[in-house]
Amino acid sequence: MNDFIPMSRPWIDREEIDAVTEVLESGWITTGAKCVEFEKEFAAYTGAHRAITLSSGTAGMHLLLKALSIGKGDEVITPSMTFASTINQIALSGARPVFADVDYETLLVKPAEIERCITKHTRAIIPVHYAGAPADLDSILEIAGDIPVIEDSAHAIGTFYKGCHVGRNNIGIYSFHPIKNITTGEGGMLTGNDDTLMNTVQLLKFHGIERDAWKRYGKASDPTYDIAVPGYKYNLTDIQAGIGIVQLKKIHVINSRRTEIAMEYFSGLSDIDGFDLPGSPSYEHTHSWHLFVVKVNSMERKDFMEALAEHNIGYGLHFPACHTLRFVKQLFGETRLPVTEEASGKILSLPLYPGMEKDQVHRVIEAVRGILR
Ligand SMILES: Cc1ncc(COP(=O)(O)O)c(C=O)c1O
Repeated sequence: MNDFIPMSRPWIDREEIDAVTEVLESGWITTGAKCVEFEKEFAAYTGAHRAITLSSGTAGMHLLLKALSIGKGDEVITPSMTFASTINQIALSGARPVFADVDYETLLVKPAEIERCITKHTRAIIPVHYAGAPADLDSILEIAGDIPVIEDSAHAIGTFYKGCHVGRNNIGIYSFHPIKNITTGEGGMLTGNDDTLMNTVQLLKFHGIERDAWKRYGKASDPTYDIAVPGYKYNLTDIQAGIGIVQLKKIHVINSRRTEIAMEYFSGLSDIDGFDLPGSPSYEHTHSWHLFVVKVNSMERKDFMEALAEHNIGYGLHFPACHTLRFVKQLFGETRLPVTEEASGKILSLPLYPGMEKDQVHRVIEAVRGILR
C-alpha cells in the first residue's frame, strides 16, 4: 500500500525549529518582542497600516464584533460557505447571521446577494476570500457604503485583488491554524487602518490592560495597571510568533509551490466529465491556492471519499453549509440558498500542501481519474 497522502501538512523545517529554540532560551516565551516583530513584518507584507497578533482567527472575529458593539437586534451578512466559527461568534454576540449566496463556479460570495441582504439592521459584512481567491472587493465596498466590511482572509495570505493584498484597505482577519498557508501551530492576526478600532481590539485582547506584560516586567518598569474595560485573553506567544516570522519569510516559496500543484491538478483533471474544477474570478487577482476544491457531479460524494480513502488519499470538506447547521436553523430559522445548497453536497478539497511531492500529486490525479472512469 502506498503511503497516506494527507489533505494538508504544515511545512516546517530547521529554521522554524531554531526560531523556537531561540525563544525558549531567551527567558521570555509569552507575548513580547517576537510578536511585535511578527506584527511589523505582517503589516509590511500585506501593506496594512497595523497588525495585531492573536491566539486565533476566531478570537479576532470575537474581538471585532465586540469592538464594533455588535449585539442583539443587529444583523451581520456573511456567506454560508464559510467556517462555522464566524457564525458561532455572530450568534454568541446576540446578533443574527444573514446568509448571502455564492457564485457556483468560484464559491465566492456574490456582491448582488450581499446587496439583497442589507436591511436597516445590518451592522457588518463579512466576505470570505474562499480557498485563497479574493472576493470582489470593489463591488462589495461600493454596496457596503458606511457598513464596516470585515474581510475573512483566513485562506488568503498572499491573495491579491487588483494588485493589492486583501485586507489592506479594510479590516482583515487571518488564521495560522496548521492547515493554513502559514502556521504558528494555532494563531491569528488582525489588520486594520482605523486606529480607534485597532486600539480597542488591542485592549480587549489582553484583559483590558493597557500596557503589555513584557513592558511591565522589564528592568525598573512599573508593574501597576488599571483596567477601564474588562477584556479577554487572546494573545499569541513569542514561541508561536518566532515560527510565524520564519513562515512569513517563506510565503513566496510556499504559495508558488501551492500554485504549481494547483496547475498540475488543472492539467491532469480538466478533461474529466462530471467533475468540476475550481472556477476563477474574472477580475485581476493572485490566488494563494489555500484549497483546491472540486465538485463531484457524476457520483455520490460519499462514495468518492470512500474510494479516495481506499487509495490512501486524504480529503477535506470546506465547508458544510452553515445555514444548515442544527443550531443555526433552531435559532434563526430556515434560509434558502440555492447555489450554496447545490454546491455544498458536491464539494471536496483535494490534498494540497507545499511539501507535496510531484509523484504524490500524480497519484492523486491518477486515483481521481480511475475512480471517476
Ligand atoms: C474561512 C475561515 N474563517 C475563519 C477561520 C477561523 O480561524 P481559526 O481556526 O484561526 O480560529 C477559519 C479556520 O479554519 C476559516 O477557514
